[in-house]
Amino acid sequence: MFSNKSSNGQAWHQDCNPENQEIYNLNRLVYTMDINKLTGGELVLIPGSHKKGIIPSDSFGNEIGHEVIIEPNKGSLAILHGHLWHKVLPIHDNIRVSTNYRCIPSGTPDNITDICVYRNMMYRFSDEKILTTRD
Ligand SMILES: [Fe+2]
Repeated sequence: MFSNKSSNGQAWHQDCNPENQEIYNLNRLVYTMDINKLTGGELVLIPGSHKKGIIPSDSFGNEIGHEVIIEPNKGSLAILHGHLWHKVLPIHDNIRVSTNYRCIPSGTPDNITDICVYRNMMYRFSDEKILTTRD
């Protein structure tokens, strides 16, 4: 994944719909550069949130759980459950690069990550369509 310098990062989201706890993907994020406070683009997540269902909508407020900020070094591997609540902080004065190898358990639909859940909407990437807005 490539992000331009001075870009916004990523809002809180889940990589796939948590409606069915048995259907999910895993993201294997390999960091090919250091990510830290100086570069921006830190990974923020709420441990255990992959078991809590859909991420709260914006109306819930900003405190959705005890967040942990990850500053991966070059060569680090992060493995994230597709239902995990996570975001990427704004990127500062340089590009940000990570490599994402997604995998799925046997029997999981190949398009499991086509629909992403944000706090304000559900979005389908294949046709760039907002499926639902959330209050
Ligand atoms: Fe993600």
